[in-house]
Amino acid sequence: MIPRKKLIAGNWKMNKTSADGVALVRDIVAAVGKQSEVEVVVCPPFTALESAARALEGSNVKLGAQNMHFESSGAFTGEVSAPMLRAIFTTHVILGHSERRSYFGETDALVNQKVIAALKNQLRPIFCVGESLAERESGSTLKVVQTQVERGLEGVSKELGQGIVVAYEPVWAIGTGKVASTDQAQEVHAFIRGLLVKLFGEPVAQKVRILYGGSMKPANAPELLAQKDIDGGLIGGASLEARSFVELVNAAAAIK
Ligand code: 13P
Repeated sequence: MIPRKKLIAGNWKMNKTSADGVALVRDIVAAVGKQSEVEVVVCPPFTALESAARALEGSNVKLGAQNMHFESSGAFTGEVSAPMLRAIFTTHVILGHSERRSYFGETDALVNQKVIAALKNQLRPIFCVGESLAERESGSTLKVVQTQVERGLEGVSKELGQGIVVAYEPVWAIGTGKVASTDQAQEVHAFIRGLLVKLFGEPVAQKVRILYGGSMKPANAPELLAQKDIDGGLIGGASLEARSFVELVNAAAAIK
């Protein structure tokens, strides 16, 4: 079986002006832009995407957006579509992030429409799922994740399913410094892999990368990234500085 290439993606969230973003991308490109052992993606806010695209041109660093609308164009004030993202060399898009779900009311059904639209436009969704603290404490983590995966990926064909990246981000671990233990993370990752087997069959499920997100830092990354079903990280805080982000890429490269 071909091993899955590790993927380290930086979710900048609502941080960095266009100029700040260019400076960060330049530092990342200088450090890890030529390596190809790890897939590296940066996800700036919309306003910094195009300048970041220029700054990473000619490198192996890829560009992701943090959200998009499911329609290609039309009267949707304030929204951005998949073809618009593609036109500025975006290859990935984070969809269903817990912050979109909780602050902007995104439902599984909406996330599903976005996932399908992204795939049809040759954008690779980084499809996020994860339980809240209350859900973990009440023992419903796997049930919650199952519902999010099944509803979020409903109607996605086996063929399109190959284009997906899943990110498991326990909400209680995001921005809190409370990282999931390796056992907690691996348990959910293996469970998600099992759901993907049911949805897409074993060969596709074995190809899909499942990222961990939630307070991943250079100090805790090596242990998490060494787990069988943890294929990379979706990094928030530690992606805002080149030094820590590059350390995470190097930590992923060191896993054999
Ligand atoms: P932190 O790494 O800041 O916890 O954020 C994780 C995240 O939400 C990435 O999408």
